[in-house]
Amino acid sequence: MKRTHTCGALTDQHIGQTANLCGWVDSIRDHGGITFIDIRDRAGLTQLVFNPENDQALAERASRLKPESVIGVHGEVRPRPAETVNPRLPTGTIEVVGRELEIFNISDTPPFPIDDAKGDKVNEDLRLTHRYLDLRRPRLRKAMEVRHKASKTVREVLDEEGFYEIETPFLFKSTPEGAREYLVPSRLNPGEFYALTQSPQQFKQMLMVAGMERYYQMARCFRDEDLRSDRQPEFTQVDLEMSFIDREDMYALIEKLVARVWKEVLDIDIPTPFPRMPYAEVMNRYGIDKPDTRFGMELVDVGEIFGETEFKVFRGVLDKGGAIKAFNAKGLADLTQGELTHLTEIAQSLGAKGLAFIKADKGQWKSPILKFFTDAEKAALAEVLEIEDGDMVFFAADQWTRACTILGRIRLEAANLLKKRERLVIPADAYNFLWVVEFPLLIYEEEEQRFVAAHHPFTAPVPEDIGLLQKDPKAVRGQHYDLVLNGVELGGGSIRVHQPDLQKTLFEDIFAIPPETVQERFGYMLKSFRYGAPPHGGIALGFDRMVAILTGTTSIRDVIAFPKTQKGQCLMTDSPGPVTDRQLRDLHIQTLVQED
Ligand code: AMO
Ligand code: AMP
Repeated sequence: MKRTHTCGALTDQHIGQTANLCGWVDSIRDHGGITFIDIRDRAGLTQLVFNPENDQALAERASRLKPESVIGVHGEVRPRPAETVNPRLPTGTIEVVGRELEIFNISDTPPFPIDDAKGDKVNEDLRLTHRYLDLRRPRLRKAMEVRHKASKTVREVLDEEGFYEIETPFLFKSTPEGAREYLVPSRLNPGEFYALTQSPQQFKQMLMVAGMERYYQMARCFRDEDLRSDRQPEFTQVDLEMSFIDREDMYALIEKLVARVWKEVLDIDIPTPFPRMPYAEVMNRYGIDKPDTRFGMELVDVGEIFGETEFKVFRGVLDKGGAIKAFNAKGLADLTQGELTHLTEIAQSLGAKGLAFIKADKGQWKSPILKFFTDAEKAALAEVLEIEDGDMVFFAADQWTRACTILGRIRLEAANLLKKRERLVIPADAYNFLWVVEFPLLIYEEEEQRFVAAHHPFTAPVPEDIGLLQKDPKAVRGQHYDLVLNGVELGGGSIRVHQPDLQKTLFEDIFAIPPETVQERFGYMLKSFRYGAPPHGGIALGFDRMVAILTGTTSIRDVIAFPKTQKGQCLMTDSPGPVTDRQLRDLHIQTLVQED
């Protein structure tokens, strides 16, 4: 039986016509001997009716069907009786009277209901083991549709903007400056390995040397990292690179791209240009490089208030040049002892020695450290932190970065506690895009006693700061930009170094990589730059994260057809798995893992 309509297509207009529908048995009900079946396909649901008075044998076959069986039905479209009209379904005013039934497949009883609400409560491992069933649920089907629409829009916009879509290799070589890589043994080159690309970074830069001018790719990237809800071992980037541009060109392009995606997928107008904030300000106000700006509770520097303090904890930190930061968790005075202990443990895990607080409760301030504060200090705190009854204020006294980081994390935790109490309500359609700019180019690695690139080693310094590279490396700003949305790092990129000598200086003098190693790892790139490298820059947007936010989920696993678990496994195919000794021999590999 060939279908004539989808299960979402039939409406009043089709009454009196015949139709062939194909799909899955979504539900099956018996009302006084009459069988009602909801048939489902990608497009929707249609009610089928099999009445034994019309055709006894047919009705009996229909009544024996099982949910999730695949059928084809031929019948007539007729109006539903008024009391059974379902206004929530596009097909809710009609039903199809079954005249012929073809059974393509009878389904076993599925291990969980193919239903959004019920399915969401099912253990995720069970859903991932039967991912093909999980994907039948409307929420996941919708996620795949959104993903498709978003990538189609990305391709349209970049095509209009003159980009070529170019594929670059997955099998690359190991360049251990970034994330941990997946290695692939080479059969034809005994003892040698490819590495799967963490990103097409070097290839896209070489495409600029090759004169492609504007490249993009929906690029699959592979990183052997510890996994979280927003990290997968293989994920997709909207990866792009452009020649002869500056940072302003990049901001304008990405704002246009993102606004179009939001318009096409959600029909929402995103205001542009996006706000920009220097990294130092972001850290000072939010304590994290990817701030959620949908709510306030910003960090405040209260060091000046305590300039004369005798409280030994604050005094000691101030004398060492550290900072005292605080923020007001508005309305969180009813924090439980358990919650406070949990927050303190989080602070300690970030290196805090404690988490001082003031609780403004029933007209009184309560705090173990209140006795150390003068009236003037209290009055000043009340003013700058706008403390009102019912508030909870947290403090971190430490070196500046650590104090910011600790409170940045506590701010997010406090926001979650307030959300649970419904005192902080973030509208579902709030999309706070933000460019974080003016990152430091370099960070000092205490362990290795050398500078490393804050982003990656190809990022160009801000031109005015090049002179500081040797004199004051910490002060050099990079031409790096991050795109942040609602507390998620959506993307990052930079204007690149295009001068081979500057790149070599960075590698050898600043990152202190021995010249032979530079030659071995990056020689081809430096060489290519000697044949006329144009000024260029690029960015990569985390496409899975973008789709997750577009569909309102916090886990990118929900928007990837076949994601991996926290342990990097695919439960459906049971991978990774062992291989035979023969296969290992062919690859010149021996494993040290003993079989038990
Ligand atoms: P970066 O490493 O910042 O930059 O990656 C860009 C964006 O990719 C997303 N992302 C991830 N998404 C899911 N799972 C992961 N494991 C994961 N890791 C990163 C993030 C991130 O912002 N080559 C540079 C870009 C450039 O300079 O042009 C790069 O890869 O959303
Ligand atoms: P102590 O005098 O060490 O008992 O600390 C008094 C209070 O200050 C306790 O509530 C600690 O949790 C808190 N505290 C200690 N060190 C810090 C710090 N560096 N930053 C913020 N609070 C702290």
